[in-house]
Amino acid sequence: MANGRERQPGRAEWSELLRIGIEGIDEDHHRFFSMIRDLDNALMDRKDKPEIERLVTSIVEDSVRHFENEEKILAQSGYPHAARNAALHGKINGELAELMREFGGATLSAEWMGKALQIREILVNHCLEEIAKSRDFVRKHPPSP
Ligand SMILES: [Fe+2]
Repeated sequence: MANGRERQPGRAEWSELLRIGIEGIDEDHHRFFSMIRDLDNALMDRKDKPEIERLVTSIVEDSVRHFENEEKILAQSGYPHAARNAALHGKINGELAELMREFGGATLSAEWMGKALQIREILVNHCLEEIAKSRDFVRKHPPSP
């Protein structure tokens, strides 16, 4: 499988179709996609490792905070897959921590760019899958205020 710069990053663009109807979650997702766009631009502009590290660290930190927030909201809304989603967040956090360690230790640009792309791919795929799974349920069962 192609790795690093040969890989075409999947489309990651905010769209109103991605809105699930809970402001706190939608705002987070919107911001997430704009942070991913900044990372994509920086990678295409061949920015140096400290700049990519700064962007990836912000994305990972923001995602960890978002996961906690989203777990609470989805549990409150009675989302039937809330526990499974929370467990998946735990697994993803572990993978991200490991990839960040590997990013930090990487010296070759192909290596750290590959780690940044892996982090990006994990988070974008998860975000899109999670939205697809939760959107219909949350729209029908909005959390009580
Ligand atoms: Fe999310």
